[in-house]
Amino acid sequence: MRVLGIETSCDDTAIAVVEDRTRVLSNVVSSQTDLHRAYGGVVPELASRQHLENIEPILRAALAEAGATLAEIDAIAVTAGPGLIGSLLVGVSFAKALAWSTQKPLAAVNHLEGHVRAAFLEHPETPFPALALVVSGGHSSLYLCPEEARYTMVARTRDDAAGEAFDKAARLLGLGYPGGPIIDRLARDGDPEAVPFPRARMSDGSLDFSFSGLKTALLRHAQATGLAVERSAPGRVYDPHGPESGAVQDSARSGSSVSKEVLDVAASFQRAVVDVLVERTLAAAEAEGVRSVVVTGGVACNSLLRAEIRRACEARGLGVAIPSPRYCTDNAAMIASAGFLHLERGETAPVDLSATPGWRLGGPEAARTTLRHK
Ligand code: KG4
Ligand code: ZN
Repeated sequence: MRVLGIETSCDDTAIAVVEDRTRVLSNVVSSQTDLHRAYGGVVPELASRQHLENIEPILRAALAEAGATLAEIDAIAVTAGPGLIGSLLVGVSFAKALAWSTQKPLAAVNHLEGHVRAAFLEHPETPFPALALVVSGGHSSLYLCPEEARYTMVARTRDDAAGEAFDKAARLLGLGYPGGPIIDRLARDGDPEAVPFPRARMSDGSLDFSFSGLKTALLRHAQATGLAVERSAPGRVYDPHGPESGAVQDSARSGSSVSKEVLDVAASFQRAVVDVLVERTLAAAEAEGVRSVVVTGGVACNSLLRAEIRRACEARGLGVAIPSPRYCTDNAAMIASAGFLHLERGETAPVDLSATPGWRLGGPEAARTTLRHK
């Protein structure tokens, strides 16, 4: 069976063709990063308008790359939430029109289930029960997956998502957008012990995340040391496509490199975020008695997080599945793959399917894990 996946929940227009659950025949992603960079974050109205312009050419590209015609597609899967309403509606409307006109079944996929499934594209044998850390620009949650297609939320963020924390930190330091890859790159040349940033714990013993204290500590440190960049200032600009990949230039002082202080702050900030993510994930894995850990979402591209999770899981004899970076960030292969789980169970979407911007995965808050002995 071949499923066409469509993903437009945020700022990437993505369409993919996946065969038999995990064989990716094509995976086309049109990133809008350049469009939103000037604003330091995603502008919803611009995102939905861009999806409208992109979606048809992306469909053609995805079919061509897969060497398939629309007639050779068996079903369609689309992200119906969570995400930006205007962006979601472009994908959902397009998918419904395609499904109706071709008389093919349609599956509505939760974007976060898609992120979890991304890990199974390359690691289909990952054993259950599994614990999934989903860390992206909009989400930071831990899900217990007792078996395939079952999710219970065990922790979530109380404020910012991990990716959002990286993005805000980079903006404060005038490093550009999106912040995660920039900080990841700079941190390699900085001292992670230079600044003692806080690692927040919940006083109620829950495993929830909170990054607001860290953000405030960074702001105070940056202001005290003169590293904070005013929003209106041109700032240091990261050019991911520059001649030296990962090049960061200070556009205000063209050509000068980023100072040792900024490198140290980037490394210390990244260390603090990664420490918290790894500690909570391993605590939940232990409390839930899982056999494997899955880490996914855009922040799962982070090199320190990947290395530290792998090291911690291997030390405890836990299986670990982290997708390749192209499947960590938003893509439609993960949506198509998740679509199989629904279609195989006969769960198809109604013709009046709408987008659900606040669609939660994994049930009620009461199901959350707490550390009873700490
Ligand atoms: O999953 P994703 O593409 O979109 C959302 O669903 O949000 O995640 C994007 C987020 C951004 O906040 C970006 O800064 C972060 O993932 N990110 C990273 C890295 N690469 C992307 N964060 C830390 N380190 C990275 N290498
Ligand atoms: Zn995402």
